[in-house]
Formats: sequence, C-alpha cells, structure tokens
Amino acid sequence: MSFPVKEIQTKPFEGQKPGTSGLRKRVKVFQQEHYTENFIQSIFTSIAPLSSEFTLVIGGDGRYLSPETVQTILKIGAANGVAKFIVGCQSILSTPAASNVIRKYKANGGILLTASHNPGGPNADFGIKYNVSNGGPAPENVTDKIFAATKTITSYKVIEAPPVDLNKIGETTFGPAKVKIIDSVDDYITLLRGIFDIELIKQFLESHHNYTVLFDGLHGVTGPYATRIFTKLFALPESSVQNCVPLPDFGGGHPDPNLTYAKTLVDAVEANNIQFGAASDGDGDRNMIYGKGAFVTPSDSVAVIADWAEEAIPYFHKKNGGVKGLARSMPTSKAIDLVAQKRGLEYFEVPTGWKFFGNLMDAGRLSICGEESFGTGSDHIREKDGLWAVIAWLNILAYANSKSPNKLLGINDILQRHYSIYGRNYFSRYDYEEVSLEGAQKIVDALNQHLSASSLSNKEFTSTSTKEKYTVKDLSNFSYTDPIDKSVSKNQGQIVEFTDGSRVVFRLSGTGSQGATVRMYVERYVAPGAGDEALKKAAKDGLKGLIEVALDLSNLKEFLGREEATVIT
Ligand code: G6P
Ligand code: ZN
Repeated sequence: MSFPVKEIQTKPFEGQKPGTSGLRKRVKVFQQEHYTENFIQSIFTSIAPLSSEFTLVIGGDGRYLSPETVQTILKIGAANGVAKFIVGCQSILSTPAASNVIRKYKANGGILLTASHNPGGPNADFGIKYNVSNGGPAPENVTDKIFAATKTITSYKVIEAPPVDLNKIGETTFGPAKVKIIDSVDDYITLLRGIFDIELIKQFLESHHNYTVLFDGLHGVTGPYATRIFTKLFALPESSVQNCVPLPDFGGGHPDPNLTYAKTLVDAVEANNIQFGAASDGDGDRNMIYGKGAFVTPSDSVAVIADWAEEAIPYFHKKNGGVKGLARSMPTSKAIDLVAQKRGLEYFEVPTGWKFFGNLMDAGRLSICGEESFGTGSDHIREKDGLWAVIAWLNILAYANSKSPNKLLGINDILQRHYSIYGRNYFSRYDYEEVSLEGAQKIVDALNQHLSASSLSNKEFTSTSTKEKYTVKDLSNFSYTDPIDKSVSKNQGQIVEFTDGSRVVFRLSGTGSQGATVRMYVERYVAPGAGDEALKKAAKDGLKGLIEVALDLSNLKEFLGREEATVIT
C-alpha cells in the first residue's frame, strides 16, 4: 500500500522559540490553525534526514490538547519518515518515564506533550518538548535548529490515515509506520526496582505503622505510577496516595510541588500529622518532600541524597560503580558542593535547565544532581525524576533507621545530622511572575551597568531590620562552557557574592508562558560550628537581612512595581 503524502501550505508564526524546556504557550495559541503543525514539522525538518529505522517515543502529562496532538504527531511524523512510534497509553508517559522508554528501547528521540507544572485546561498552558536519543531534553544546538526551521517554514507534510486508538495497548499500523501503544507505568516500575532497596523500604514502613506516608499527585501524571509504587510495591493503604487520578486540567489546580501550590499536601500533612509527605508536578519530574514540621529544600534534598547514596541506595553501591560526580544548577545552593568536597568527588555548576547535566552523565562524570526548582535526579535517565527523589528519601530513611534500633529517625533528624556535619546553606527563592518585560529588563540592565562600572564592588549594605552588614565581593554574569562539547552558554543569570560567602542571584525565567518572571535566589551559609541555634532557624528568619539587602541593591520593587513576590519557596 502506498500512502500519499500531502503537503499543506503554511506561514511561519513568530515566537516559536523553545525555552528552558520546550515550547510552552497558552492552549489557545496552539489551537491556531497550523500553529502546532508548524512546530512539529520544524522538529522533523531540523533532524532530517531520518534513518530508515527512526523510532519516536510520544508521551506527556495527559493535559488538555494532548490526545489530538498525538494524532497530529503521528500524521506529520509518518509523512516525514518515522518508521516506528512508541506511544504511552492514553497519551500518558511522565517525563522521567518517557526518558526511560527512549533509552530502554533505543529510540532516536521523543516528543513530550507537557507544560510541566503550569496549569492545564482550555484557558491554561500546553507544551511540546523534543528529547534526543540519550533520553534528555534536546540541547541548544538542536532547539536552535528547530527555532530556525519555524522561521522559514512554508509547508508541512501529513499522511492521511484514520486516528489510532490511544487507549488500546498493542501494535498497529499507521500508514507506512508502526505504532506501539505501551502501558505507561510498567517500564518505569522495572527501572525503580533495579535502583532502590524496595524490600528495606517495605519492611521499614511495615514495622513502623505510626510512620505515616502520603503522596499527592496533584492530579498530574504521577498518579498511576505512585499508586502502583505505594499501594503495591510498599503495600501501603490506599490512603497513602491522594489526587492520583490524572486530569486534563489537573482539577483546576497548579500542579507544582511547592509550599504555595501543593496546598492539598501541606493541609493533609498538617491535619493528619503525616511524617513523610511528598508531591510531584504535572509531568512527574519535580518533587517536594514535606513532613509534619519538616520541609526539605530542594538544594538540601540533593545534598542529603548525594551524601547517603553510596551506602543506602543499591544503584550507587560501590560494587555497582559508586557515585561518580555531583552537580547542581547555578542558582541552587552550594550544599551539594560541600558533600562532593568531603567525599572527594568531582562536582559541577551548570546553568538552569536539566539538559545541561546530560553531557556530563553521558561522559560518566556525573551520578547525582539537582536544581533548586524542585528537580532532583541521577544518571538512571536523562530527566529529573520526582518519584525517584521521593523513593530515594524513603530508602535513606529506611536505611538510617536500620542502623538506629532505639530511636525512630524522621526527616528532621536526617537534616539536622547533615547540618551538623556540613553546616547549613539557608536558601530561598522569590518569584515575581507575569511582570512586564520592560521592568524585568531594567533589573538586568542596572546590574549589567554595575558590572561594567564595578560600582557595587566593596559596597556595604545594611539590612533595615536585622542591621546585619553585607559587603559585596563580586558581581558576575554567569557563563558556562560545557566541559564535554565545549559549547558556551552566556547570560545565565547575575550573581552578587558577598564577603561572608552569601550570595544573591537574579535570573529571568525561561519557562513562563506570559510576560516575564523574575527570580531572586538568596543563599547564606552557616558553618557547623555556629551551634544548634544558628542552624535550626526557619529559612525566612535565617535569610531576613540578606533578603532586604538583595531587594535594596537591585531596586527590584521599584523596577517591577511589585511590593510582594508571587511565590516564595
Ligand atoms: C524546568 C526545567 C528545569 C528548570 C526549571 C526552571 O523545570 O526542566 O531544569 O530548573 O524549569 O526554569 P526557569 O527558567 O523557569 O527558572
Ligand atoms: Zn515538570
């Protein structure tokens, strides 16, 4: 049978530039005639010619517009020469699960339909992201090519074939291509079983019935994965998971696991004295660990995991290759650096964006990494992995408790132990969402002016309320040269360092879908010798003075016309 390829005329749309994690826009934008088709064709144009065996994985968080977009990808992909599609049942594959599927089945790439933690539904966001054969997000040289193709596109190719039933597991044909619909969860469970000491976790939870556990899927994609893990692998009751049915609009919520948006988790933990609570975002790559009276900042989380990994987690046992190196994104606190230094491991500081970890992992120099934006993961795949981080914590807790027969250790005990060894990096992030581009640019320009005139050097700032004094040591604009492929990424955020080792970072978000989002990151280090009192403060108290200084030196409130941050994490 031959399948005629139809060529449909189109014109370029402006602004189809993939951001930190693919193209993210309002659903209405994607619904414009040819808009989605143009972008998908541009992906294929930029990777052409496709090999005769070219295999493409399709998945996503199941948000509004996903099923119809899968059909569009099948039509355009088949017309562009994709030989085989591997598609998550009901168009669902969490981002980490998709990364695993790409690697496991040696696919050439994958298209993930997600806008991550952004709300979904007809009036909210949609996204299209391309991942390459290592399972990770496309690097900038690929996304640049995609963007270039979107600017010159004049037509896209489709084949005409009846839609594929995305709910039916099994193999079928679609025009000249094969389509395999797979169970969304199975491969991921197999992966996790090979990483963690599932038996140890199960035993720990069984023998400590009063150590209650709750996972909140926020109606994102992790629901079916978490339900299998918590209720089957760990044999916990149904009440250990909530909001675990994926919904196209996430139940109207904002599926981002932080203290503001994961309110359903925070409320349940507080009301029911849950010792170990956790949540994940819309597409399953982010995580938050939050128990009664215990919040783990993502920067601390990755440092703790890195510190315990070799002992507690089988995948990282010495006999399985051990921990090779550690890394964090630039704005993430330096807590993990201290672990690397003590353990004699290589460590890296990369720009914001998980794609920057991929080359280091492929080169065998990086095992565990994380970002302040609630992303934690390892080289088991090439995306961050929300459930991986949650189970890593459970594995560490189970292991630590197996060595502590007389005292039940919880999240806070693990954290305090860490601070007593390494000191504490107080950390907080202030987000100013949907501000004007002009206002955001003013902050950047003003800092750049300070940079060129060295006008902040040695300048002393005094916080209004605490009267602490901070003297600027250095102001820089973060630029990164990838140690493996030597590619250079410039203007990745401005860093103000102070003489006491504290720092403030200003960055424009690359993931917003409307206006600009300014992020201000503050970090202050307190050495272990400073004593319990100094190490045990709430982050907002430990950082109070520094935050005032940061707002003062950047003139942020005035430039943005905002008194308060939209979200503080
Ligand atoms: C996504 C990326 C992360 C990144 C985060 C924040 O989740 O996968 O790597 O840290 O977005 O990016 P932004 O540019 O909004 O700060
Ligand atoms: Zn995400």
